[in-house]
Amino acid sequence: MARSAASSAVLLVAAAFLPAAFGACQWASLRQMTDTYIESQTFGELDPSLASEGVIYRENEKVVDIRKGLLSRSLKVDFSHTIIDQTECASFTKLVVADPGYVIGTQIFYNDTVDGLLTTDVVDVIVTTTTDDNNSQFDAAQALSHIEAEDWSSLGRDNTDSRQVLQAVADAYLDLWSDSSKIGAVPFARGCSRLEGSRFIADSCTAGLALPEPGTSSRPNTNRRYVIDESVGGVSVFSDFGSLENAPASHEFRIVGGKLYYVHQMVAAKS
Ligand SMILES: *[C@@H]1O[C@H](CO)[C@@H](O)[C@H](O)[C@H]1NC(C)=O
Repeated sequence: MARSAASSAVLLVAAAFLPAAFGACQWASLRQMTDTYIESQTFGELDPSLASEGVIYRENEKVVDIRKGLLSRSLKVDFSHTIIDQTECASFTKLVVADPGYVIGTQIFYNDTVDGLLTTDVVDVIVTTTTDDNNSQFDAAQALSHIEAEDWSSLGRDNTDSRQVLQAVADAYLDLWSDSSKIGAVPFARGCSRLEGSRFIADSCTAGLALPEPGTSSRPNTNRRYVIDESVGGVSVFSDFGSLENAPASHEFRIVGGKLYYVHQMVAAKS
């Protein structure tokens, strides 16, 4: 009796916190659509809710028919991780498939209808794979071991940073490629770790960063698209990586207390 009263109190707190703290779209609806997406990819069978009329589907920045793209392939998903953006009505999901090797980052943006139903508006996929000739160094199983070890626990109301702070930290990191002298402006946490493709750099988000020399100009990371989840300090940014001939790039950051803990970068071959 006492126990069930306590657990329903916890549920009430959780239910009161989520919709009130953030914006327009229901967390549960976004989460459910994400599960539908992961299922579609697992079975290689596109759910009709993803293929809504007028949906824009991009794979590595190229618009393709959603019925003919990666989602038509059945892939055994070994790991998935999702962040939810209630304000922008969007989600970011990372899927890792060890065999054949794939790491897939997907941003999905929805339109919210008056009755609270979500219509899929844009599905943006950045995919890296071992079957790509340009990517012989890439080892999905190795990436999986690092991604699985990450801590994405919920922060609780008192410990969340604002969207503005989260986006500013993500932008400061991405801005380094056009002005590496600003490295002091990025609030790296002690022990920040970086995963670039399947290359893991423990305890340093600056060691070996391939930045342009200070004073030389380099092309910026443009066309940035954000999915921000305050509840875990997660920011996903898709962009065109200027210094890599605008290759499609996915970055995911974890920021806690205004400091940067994880950087996960995936750069796809330009199609
Ligand atoms: C979503 O809403 C935008 C803005 O109103 C509109 O341009 C777009 O076509 C809508 N997408 C779908 C799939 O209905």
